[in-house]
Amino acid sequence: MFHGTVMDYSETPESLRPTDSYAAVSYSAVNTALRDSQVFSSKFYDSTIGIFMGPTILAMDGTMHRAHRNLVATAFKPQSLRRWEPEIVRPICDALIDEFAVRGSADLIREFTFEFPTRVIARLLGLPERDLPFFRKAAVAIINYANKVPRALQASEELKEYFLGHIEQRRSDPADDIIGDLATAEIDGEKLTDRAIYSFLRLLLPAGLETTYRSSGNLLYLLLTHPDQFDRIQQRHDLIPQAVEEGLRYETPLTMVQRAVTEDTELDGVAIPGGAVLDLCLGSANRDEARWERPEEFDIFRTHTPHISFTAGAHTCLGLHLARMETRVAMECLLNRLTGFTLLPEGDPHIFGQPFRSPNTLRVTFDVIA
Ligand code: HEM
Repeated sequence: MFHGTVMDYSETPESLRPTDSYAAVSYSAVNTALRDSQVFSSKFYDSTIGIFMGPTILAMDGTMHRAHRNLVATAFKPQSLRRWEPEIVRPICDALIDEFAVRGSADLIREFTFEFPTRVIARLLGLPERDLPFFRKAAVAIINYANKVPRALQASEELKEYFLGHIEQRRSDPADDIIGDLATAEIDGEKLTDRAIYSFLRLLLPAGLETTYRSSGNLLYLLLTHPDQFDRIQQRHDLIPQAVEEGLRYETPLTMVQRAVTEDTELDGVAIPGGAVLDLCLGSANRDEARWERPEEFDIFRTHTPHISFTAGAHTCLGLHLARMETRVAMECLLNRLTGFTLLPEGDPHIFGQPFRSPNTLRVTFDVIA
């Protein structure tokens, strides 16, 4: 049942009603709630994913959030991004393409989109490539905590031990990577505790790989199933950034975030009691007909209107510039070298999942550009 633009379960039978659970589905309701972190608090995450990640900026509010976020944000400064593109992201994407180009066919999810964000984040953190399988598995276990709590707790412990070793190493032998930056960072003259650092790293790993692999897989699927638009991009690579944005809007990789309602309030005309949980439906907000014409169409040529896939307000995704750059570079690398992509029906490629969405296979054939 929807009440205006906020979901309201008051007419749902008692037995089927979630306790004090509401859902904001319009762009304006989602945007308003995201920008008021006093009434719509991120503390909610302390009792969900925070159990496995530890205390992180994701679950902090107010001045504490600002202080911690400013500190870790320095690791994503624009001059770092400019350096990472040619030194890290482009070589990683090209090396992956080298592995399948000669074959004339590939599964772009398994061999490309699943691989590059993990390798990029590993390089940014200064972690050895041989550890990739370990921390990818651990990161995925943490994200899937709702299905397997014991496995997520075990993964959380394993990552703690693993990162403690790296933090110790950076303290005795400083390194120019994100863990090195965090090991020497200070708030009000105080160094970050080991717990604050390994908790942030336990957030960064899944945040950095899970969403970016999904958004780039979604974009490739959308282009492969809209060949006219794909042809235009192949002719004009400068259209890639607007295709990335439309892909993020049309197929939002993380469709929902949540907030705890701290006091009785009203959102878009719906009364919400303090203590309720509010689902902020980013995917639905991104297809709001009040904001976009033909919202149910994928159209890379539409007039640009910012989407809300990286949220808004204090918790706006810290990695958004990195994610955009990675996806653009991945597309450029593919299109610089390969052409004539055809999507094969094998494996029934389609976008699915909640709250994380993406295809799990994209088998294609292509020609190599001479
Ligand atoms: C397309 C890719 C990405 C999407 C769609 C995405 C989406 C999001 C969303 C929706 C949030 C807000 C969660 C909330 O408010 O409850 C968030 C926060 C965050 N993201 Fe991303 N993200 C992406 C890539 C990245 C990357 C590459 C990194 C870093 C390597 C990253 C790091 C973070 C961090 C640290 C936060 C917490 C910010 C805070 O609480 O202040 N994300 N992201």
